[in-house]
Amino acid sequence: MLSSVLALVTLFGGALAVEYTCEDKAVLSTSFVGQNSDVKAETFSCSNSLSEFSALSAASTADDPTDVCGASCTTNCFTPSGGGPNPNDCQIIVDALLYDSQNIGALFTIAANTSGVAMTYATCETFIIDQASYDLTYCRDDWSNVVEYVAFNCQSTQNAHGGNCVATDERWFIQVQTATT
Ligand SMILES: *[C@@H]1O[C@H](CO)[C@@H](O)[C@H](O)[C@H]1NC(C)=O
Repeated sequence: MLSSVLALVTLFGGALAVEYTCEDKAVLSTSFVGQNSDVKAETFSCSNSLSEFSALSAASTADDPTDVCGASCTTNCFTPSGGGPNPNDCQIIVDALLYDSQNIGALFTIAANTSGVAMTYATCETFIIDQASYDLTYCRDDWSNVVEYVAFNCQSTQNAHGGNCVATDERWFIQVQTATT
């Protein structure tokens, strides 16, 4: 398990540890997923990109594959410690994503132009945002691995309260944070 996660995430490689807050959030759909239907899943759109990145990922070109399953990302923890999500709540999301991967499908779509998909359980929220100008496809088990890694490695003992994992080409990123609702 650990080696497969390490294939996906580069550890603390980046200087960017900017927490993303969705501006002008519009929730497009809400459902409850996982084996016990207790993890809230939302699709939503935002008006902003992750700050410090050029708008809508200048790094991408039309030739890049839209299926970003297995693509690597760089983990950044948010400092300082305190107020982070309970990693055991994040674990419920991890398990729900694995359950959905087996029972709904391995792949899911993230809509273009800073739209996203969020999963929330108790204190833990994670979301993935597509910063490209076209839809992307990602794998639920990869998302699950990233959530597990960030949730347990960006804790108060690491002087952190959650973190993100930003795709090498900056077209998408995953954030793990304290639930806002
Ligand atoms: C994303 O925004 C760009 C610029 O406004 C637009 O050209 C493109 O069609 C949009 N993509 C989608 C899938 O809506």
